[in-house]
Amino acid sequence: MLPLLERIAELDAGVMLDAGCGDGETARRIVEAVGAVKRLVLVDIDAAALDEARDQFEGLADRLEVAFRVADVTQLPFAADSFDSVLLSDVLHHSGDPQQALTQCARVLKPAGILLFSEMVCDELSGPEAVGRDLHHFKSAIDRLCGVPHQNTLPRPVIEAALASAGFETLWWQRERFDPARPADPDGRRRIAAREQFLETYLEHAEQLPQYASLRKQAAFLNYRMLRCGFTEAPELRVIARKLAI
Ligand SMILES: C[S@@+](CC[C@H](N)C(=O)[O-])C[C@H]1O[C@@H](n2cnc3c(N)ncnc32)[C@H](O)[C@@H]1O
Repeated sequence: MLPLLERIAELDAGVMLDAGCGDGETARRIVEAVGAVKRLVLVDIDAAALDEARDQFEGLADRLEVAFRVADVTQLPFAADSFDSVLLSDVLHHSGDPQQALTQCARVLKPAGILLFSEMVCDELSGPEAVGRDLHHFKSAIDRLCGVPHQNTLPRPVIEAALASAGFETLWWQRERFDPARPADPDGRRRIAAREQFLETYLEHAEQLPQYASLRKQAAFLNYRMLRCGFTEAPELRVIARKLAI
């Protein structure tokens, strides 16, 4: 995320919304990187995530006005033109309706307001990145079977078209790749073992489902591919965009 953080060093984020804040760590990094921020509003559909975000901002309460609210990014409970900037980080494919999520972000932004956007992409991948994407898609399939909205990630051109269709002009973008090489784990064995364990634990969510046997086979095949090809997380598309004045 470093290139994005460097790009926003001069940005006056004004009143900022973090739509789908999760544990708030991304927002905290953004707030520390921008030139100025007047007020921060963090929303998430999950009240438990907001509790974690509150902890994240505890130490900053005297320096920054922060508010937390349970809300759905596809139906934001704010008036049009309420925010100078919006952060939407790794929420699009969780939101249930990516186009509507972007349209809502545009609606609550003031004209020429800034969108700081980040999303994992599923195209133009190396072999290990394709394994990383398929691991993620396996997890999202289990979530969907359990009734949790979580779609597969999208190709970059589809995301770019959705941004344009919501009324955003891209000012800067980057496809950020994650280097699989870790000095402490040069052949990736420890990461693969950890990911195998993660798959095993995640499968427990699906134990009662009729698809469980089939999911187990898919997990075994993913483990085999990790050992054959290695894996790393799929790249993130980072975008700084501006709301076009209509
Ligand atoms: C992968 S996490 C990303 C969290 C954070 N933005 C980050 O960059 O780490 C996705 C978050 O989006 C939230 N979320 C999913 N659907 C949502 C929706 N429709 N409206 C608001 N938040 C949503 C989830 O609860 C979760 O906290």
